[in-house]
Amino acid sequence: MTTATGTFVVLNANYPACSWPGVSEGAVPIELAGPLGPVGNAHRVYEVRGLPASCAIKMGPGAECPEDEKDARQVAMRLGARDSLWGEYEKLLAADGLCGRAPLAYAYGAFVEAGDGGRARIAPAFVMERLDAEPLCHVVERGALPVRRVIEAGLILVDLVDDLARRRIAHGNLSPENVLVEAGDADEVERVCVVDFQLAVSRDEEGGRIGSLPFTAPEQIGLSLVGCNPREWYLRRLSREPYADMWSVGALLYYMATGERPALPVRWGKGSDGAYSFWYGGQRLDFEEALACVNDSKIDGLDLPGPWRDEEGGSALGSAIRLCTSNAACEREIATVRGMLEEVLK
Ligand SMILES: Nc1ncnc2c1ncn2[C@@H]1O[C@H](COP(=O)(O)OP(=O)(O)O)[C@@H](O)[C@H]1O
Ligand SMILES: [Mg+2]
Repeated sequence: MTTATGTFVVLNANYPACSWPGVSEGAVPIELAGPLGPVGNAHRVYEVRGLPASCAIKMGPGAECPEDEKDARQVAMRLGARDSLWGEYEKLLAADGLCGRAPLAYAYGAFVEAGDGGRARIAPAFVMERLDAEPLCHVVERGALPVRRVIEAGLILVDLVDDLARRRIAHGNLSPENVLVEAGDADEVERVCVVDFQLAVSRDEEGGRIGSLPFTAPEQIGLSLVGCNPREWYLRRLSREPYADMWSVGALLYYMATGERPALPVRWGKGSDGAYSFWYGGQRLDFEEALACVNDSKIDGLDLPGPWRDEEGGSALGSAIRLCTSNAACEREIATVRGMLEEVLK
């Protein structure tokens, strides 16, 4: 089912480097074929001329093209320059060939859709490879994974975080929606892929924006609370190390094994105006209070419940989860966690 048609105005092409046929013409027709995942701003597209059949487009917030603006390309340039979507596209470029997998970045530009009364709507957008994979949240909804499969998936995630760290990138939002699984024969975990580099930071950037709360490291939450606190420098540094991503890996291991997201005391929901509200019991909290409450409740070292620890490999998995989710960020050593998981598969 087509949800929208329009043109994709190419501002930067990466496929094949600098000679994509759409570039010279400035625009290629696009048909959106519905949302890609359970949530979010990524869409399947039927076909983009000059690109492989399996493409996806991710869009930022759109705007109506001003009446006096004749050239959609100029508007697309302006929007493109200002939107954080460009940063996300850059991270995808930097993640090319990532161990595990991230989508290939094909082109950055703007999606132009004919609006009512002939005025076009323009949204910054990039086109990327569509991965033939299922979000982890859908896999786990069908049932928690056996310990051995959790460990296999965990090893891929650890290697992925390690590879990102070598590229000087922290993903910042490893969650069941943003981690995808390519299942092989006999339902084995074959490959774990990662999408959504919206919150990713490279080491020369300021980090600390918050992803999915149950999967976000406490110091990453803390970072957005500190203001001019003396600990600020320390926290900012942490957001650029792989430690925060390792916390998310621990929470994901816990989630895959138990089928439960790490518990939080705060509930939240999105209102019709798009704004979030937070509650603690019956009490409504403002954003800062909610974050502080979540942060205080983050347990130092998530514990895998007894029945899982008694399974074969469960005790090592439990130790790896505890280490990943330690409040002492520097303890979340990639090599140590990898060693613990590998030991089980020997
Ligand atoms: N390249 C891709 N291939 C396959 N699925 C994807 C791809 N990019 C995103 N998705 C799916 O679409 C969802 C939304 O995309 P995402 O980049 O996470 O947007 P948002 O920033 O709005 O969360 C993801 O959770 C994932 O399930
Ligand atoms: Mg997402």
